[in-house]
Amino acid sequence: MLREVTAIRYVTPLREGGSLPGVVEADDLGTYVVKFRGAGQGPKALVAEVISGELARRLGLPVPDMAVVQLDPVVARAEPDEEVQELIKASAGANLGMDFLPGALGYDPVAHPVEAGLASRVLAFDAFVENVDRSWRNPNLLIWHNALWLIDHGATLYFHHNWPRAEAVVHRPYKWDDHVLKPYATALATEGPALAARLTPSLIREAVDLVPDEWLDDGGKDAYISHLTARAAEPEAWLP
Ligand SMILES: Nc1ncnc2c1ncn2[C@@H]1O[C@H](COP(=O)(O)OP(=O)(O)OP(=O)(O)O)[C@@H](O)[C@H]1O
Ligand SMILES: [Mg+2]
Repeated sequence: MLREVTAIRYVTPLREGGSLPGVVEADDLGTYVVKFRGAGQGPKALVAEVISGELARRLGLPVPDMAVVQLDPVVARAEPDEEVQELIKASAGANLGMDFLPGALGYDPVAHPVEAGLASRVLAFDAFVENVDRSWRNPNLLIWHNALWLIDHGATLYFHHNWPRAEAVVHRPYKWDDHVLKPYATALATEGPALAARLTPSLIREAVDLVPDEWLDDGGKDAYISHLTARAAEPEAWLP
């Protein structure tokens, strides 16, 4: 299971996020960026955050720690913004929290060259989970303590928006033309296959098992495990 904490205070909305994530303080005195289950993107965005984020972490990529944040909407009763109030009311129960990295900067590819090995591993990982949200327009990478951090995997795994077609898209190639790290990913020929070899059935199962059941629909965890395991078995189909 993911660590579980309880929200004690809604601090502030993060306006730059399309899903209106919020900064929340929890009963472990930690501060989290919370993605709310009641947001327009729905619980599937949270499922994608957990599976892809935890896969990335197990592949050695830097992802802030995640936790399930239990929310009683009463913690936001002082929040004046109506849109925030509605979102919180629709999100009672389990939500996704990610460690807040205070003072983190948005990634700028000109200011922050990334070492070829790391850039290539991030690109190969994004190809596996079909991450369309790592473009130069919207990199979803942060610089914190002089290092690169990966955030926002809510738009990955988009096969789960259409289960009847999911099997047909197992081998779908990855469009990487506007990937923000493309110019630095010069070691893909070696890093790509090495990363793919680490995507074992047990690693995939471990990541999927962390998803809280209440966010899942009919297919449950097995549908994710079988899709991702089949995709992992044929890296030549999706590695750029
Ligand atoms: N762990 C974190 N620590 C510090 N700041 C963060 C963290 N996570 C997110 N942010 C900030 O909040 C913004 C929105 O977060 P995120 O991209 O996860 O939300 P979103 O609603 O999915 O956004 P999008 O508009 O890309 O769909 C980020 O661009 C970043 O500035
Ligand atoms: Mg984002």
